[in-house]
Amino acid sequence: MIQLGKIQLQDNVLLAPMSGVTDLPFRRLVKKFGASLVISEMIASRAMILQTRESMKKCQKDDAHFPMAVQLAGCEPDVMAEAARLNEDLGADVIDINFGCPVKKVVNGFAGSALMKDEDLATRIMAAVVKAVKIPVTMKTRLGWNYENLNSPSLAKKAEDVGIQMLTIHGRTRCQMYNGQANWELISRVKDAVKIPVIANGDIKNSADAKEALRLSKADGVMIGRACYGKPWLISQINSELRGEKIEAAPPIEEQKKIVLNHFAEMCDHYGEQVAIPLARKHIGWYSGGLRDSATFRAAINITGNGPLGAQNVRDAIEKFYDSQYLTEN
Ligand SMILES: Cc1cc2nc3c(=O)[nH]c(=O)nc-3n(C[C@H](O)[C@H](O)[C@H](O)COP(=O)(O)O)c2cc1C
Repeated sequence: MIQLGKIQLQDNVLLAPMSGVTDLPFRRLVKKFGASLVISEMIASRAMILQTRESMKKCQKDDAHFPMAVQLAGCEPDVMAEAARLNEDLGADVIDINFGCPVKKVVNGFAGSALMKDEDLATRIMAAVVKAVKIPVTMKTRLGWNYENLNSPSLAKKAEDVGIQMLTIHGRTRCQMYNGQANWELISRVKDAVKIPVIANGDIKNSADAKEALRLSKADGVMIGRACYGKPWLISQINSELRGEKIEAAPPIEEQKKIVLNHFAEMCDHYGEQVAIPLARKHIGWYSGGLRDSATFRAAINITGNGPLGAQNVRDAIEKFYDSQYLTEN
């Protein structure tokens, strides 16, 4: 059992933070399928303290998806601390610090994975955030900057010493970006360096991967990102296999239709229809992947929803597509 302060995580499969994907509607949905912890998209701490519209939207939470972590990025200890305090006041259950983002815009601002190159500053940031809030603080990073500098065990030890309560390690270096294969075995060096829980992340696509990642990394849990695209039920499937229960099938088509429609409705509520429609297209595309005639459906969805009846047209297209699957399924 993973314990974060007063919060005991149910099971040990977490949803990865993904900018442009893990917004409130998606987090809520994946939480329903048993994610132990859901994490917001990365929020720049400076934007957070200015309470920009975008950052306020990203950190939004509701009681239905407890526990929820807000992930912050930045390189100024006092700004990170202030942003964390604000999120504690707004109801975040956990603060996660991003020391893993490889994107140039973030790294060039000396945030994200750039902090792996400056353990001293990284430690001051972590200490400032831990001191600023009463809720648990966690940290997510990579194996190191490159294979010549695999310093995650040393950074992990410093994190533990200043009061960070859990670490997630994406088994790639910064320089790998998303190339190559995540190395789960190297995560075990972090596990050996600290007593706090360690979560293994990277390329875990199914229950077999989850078991292998846990075995090689010796980690306490796994975090799943891209494999949840269009499959919010994957976490429930992995959870039941890790518990030694029977393999769960994907929900039947009729149920999948309800999930997609409900996800779309929640996106419309959260963003308003005009903003939601283009954002929802990628999710709808992912959901339909592998189903019959999905390429035609995706092409149609990409142009559906531009007119005044936008959202209704999208709903109709989803209904029609899934009904056609259902009819041929029986
Ligand atoms: C579209 C996308 C957005 C991401 N955004 C974030 C982010 O905001 N914060 C973060 O720590 N990691 C982010 N990541 C990295 C993921 O959390 C995760 O570490 C990575 O995708 C590897 O896990 P996976 O193979 O299970 O996807 C992002 C990844 C993707 C693909």
